Amino acid sequence: MLIPRSSSCCARALRLSTHHHAIAMAVPSLLSSFSHLFPRGHGFKPFPQFLSSSCSASPFSSLSSVPSPMPNRRSKTPVAAALLEIGGVKIAKDDVVRESDPTNNVPDNIFSKIGLQLHRRDNHPVGILKNAIFDYFDTNYASKFVKFDDLCPIVSVQQNFDEVLVPADHVSRSYNDTYYVNADTVLRCHTSAHQAELLREGHSHFLVTGDVYRRDSIDSTHYPVFHQMEGVRVFSPDEWKDSGTDATSYAAMDLKKCLEGLARHLFGAVEMRWVDTYFPFTNPSFELEIYFQENWMEVLGCGVTEQDILTRNGRKDSVAWAFGLGLERLAMVLFDIPDIRLFWSTDQRFTSQFSEGKLGVKFKPFSKFPPCYKDISFWISDSFTENNLCEVVRGVAGDLVEEWNVREAVQGKLYVTLR
Ligand code: DAH
Repeated sequence: MLIPRSSSCCARALRLSTHHHAIAMAVPSLLSSFSHLFPRGHGFKPFPQFLSSSCSASPFSSLSSVPSPMPNRRSKTPVAAALLEIGGVKIAKDDVVRESDPTNNVPDNIFSKIGLQLHRRDNHPVGILKNAIFDYFDTNYASKFVKFDDLCPIVSVQQNFDEVLVPADHVSRSYNDTYYVNADTVLRCHTSAHQAELLREGHSHFLVTGDVYRRDSIDSTHYPVFHQMEGVRVFSPDEWKDSGTDATSYAAMDLKKCLEGLARHLFGAVEMRWVDTYFPFTNPSFELEIYFQENWMEVLGCGVTEQDILTRNGRKDSVAWAFGLGLERLAMVLFDIPDIRLFWSTDQRFTSQFSEGKLGVKFKPFSKFPPCYKDISFWISDSFTENNLCEVVRGVAGDLVEEWNVREAVQGKLYVTLR
């Protein structure tokens, strides 16, 4: 069922750039755009779980979205180990998956990914890439960057959102987009969740790698669990005072130099460009794009850390830069891996193709089965969201479904084809 599909899109940045917002306004998610076609509460509803969220389907489709709890959708995938330990924290399944709690929306199949830590496997493409990035920082910064790759992915709403200045009404806080363990606790949706605590602990150079979780659609570049790396460097006043520029320009220049070097380390002598964007936690904010295989590809998001974050965390007189990158997105390009679900494969025909230290070995497809199509149809209400459908599909079919398309929407009924 793993059929290569070319796509370079896997960027789900926590941002609200005017550019993306404009696109979201112009091309609303297909299913969200259906919703207003249908009368509220119309017809028989065979899948009540689809109707539970009132939030937008796209992170960029709305500026305002208040988290609202919803009933749980439960999967039929195998139950995961009942007790995990991550970074010294013991996690019982009941701590994370709570069917009777309306403020909890973590299904079994997501719990089963916690603790797998693909980024800590030296023979896995995600781990190989992480190590290659570590090598770059160790070589160029005399091992000054402290590395964290075992921080627990269960974090407070405060860590995940408030401490990095994500606005109270930002869509990423919604139950449609984020996995809530309860009203105050989430599965981190980005590694930026650890920035503030590490600054408070006094670190000035650090890299945080970890698994992050986002409710999402089904396609070859999106999966509800993926891996990110966050980098932060803090400068003290004596570092920029003789530079002839202000602190912010100094940090921005250093950031760009560092990340251009990283891109060359990973991709060779590529053409690059900087694009201005928006993140709640940096100002100014940028994206780095490289020209690769005849396309401009977004590599990472970054910027000069908002002064408020530094001030609140004991670094009043400092300036800092930060970046965040998605490891699967880059690994898909570097290793020619056509489908993001493959990263989770335990099939030897996948795992045996990669070995420690070998960045950029090209993946050879091995599936010999043709795709199989399944048509389904059901009634929907105007609170239907694409993420809720995909969550149910994953709960029933695991990772077998690689894509879904809407064939038709007639009088409150949606006809979908799964592949
Ligand atoms: N947290 C962002 C995301 O998940 C990525 C990011 C962007 C991290 C800019 C940063 C940053 O530290 O400065 O989309």
